[in-house]
Amino acid sequence: MEIVIVESPAKGAELVADAICRLVGTKPEAVLGLATGSTPEPVYQELAERRRRGEVDFSSIRGFPLDEYLGLDPGHPASYHAVIRDQVVLPLGLSDHQVAGLDGMADDSEAACADYESQIRQAGGVDLQLLGIGSDGHIGFNEPGSSLGSRTRIKTLTAQTRRDNARFFGGDEEAVPRHCLTQGVGTISEARHLVLMAWGAGKAEALAACAEGPVTAMVPATALQLHRHATVVVDRPAAKRLRLREYYESVYESKPAWQGI
Ligand code: GLP
Repeated sequence: MEIVIVESPAKGAELVADAICRLVGTKPEAVLGLATGSTPEPVYQELAERRRRGEVDFSSIRGFPLDEYLGLDPGHPASYHAVIRDQVVLPLGLSDHQVAGLDGMADDSEAACADYESQIRQAGGVDLQLLGIGSDGHIGFNEPGSSLGSRTRIKTLTAQTRRDNARFFGGDEEAVPRHCLTQGVGTISEARHLVLMAWGAGKAEALAACAEGPVTAMVPATALQLHRHATVVVDRPAAKRLRLREYYESVYESKPAWQGI
């Protein structure tokens, strides 16, 4: 696992956008795994800006969001369908068919999850998966206790996650659905490159557990420690609980810039 400590979320977003643009430059039909939440927003903004400047063409990429609330109308502004449309599909000039999505309104949720897995497989798997981290160490919506081998399925959100996400529902915790559909930790781990980002002191504890704690289903983000190409991009406040912080900084300082992440 490579840990890159950056000056600011904007700097981190540039670095991650560089990796995505390099990938899309060599593989125009690249498959991106799309995270939601506040964390990836600066990356999507940076990508949109680069597209506007004509530096990158996303017309052949495919995208697979990580998760969705169960039973939430896709027209609801907090649905991940709406978030991905507003932050990714429209700003990057994508057509709807380029981005799949978990159907939180499906009559048969289990079948929808199995179908999503086969869509990802048919697309050739995810090349680069963007990830945030929940304050309880979740990735996607894989809450503590999620099997590290889990596949796309229905999960129940923790009270902590519903509190954290209430801000997207006008501050009303009760309005946050109790259930969701999420790619499993095993599904996520099959992506060829995992890029987890964390900004702000509120993520410091979860991030330290993810990067330096024991691998455990109690912190699903620790699955990154088992991945052959996992990059963690964090700002200083989120990095403050890392024991080897200075080491990570010195490693990255002496890395040739052309290597990227
Ligand atoms: C949400 C999402 C995750 C996200 C995480 C952190 O509930 N399901 O994909 O990474 O929790 O959210 P944020 O980036 O807003 O802090």
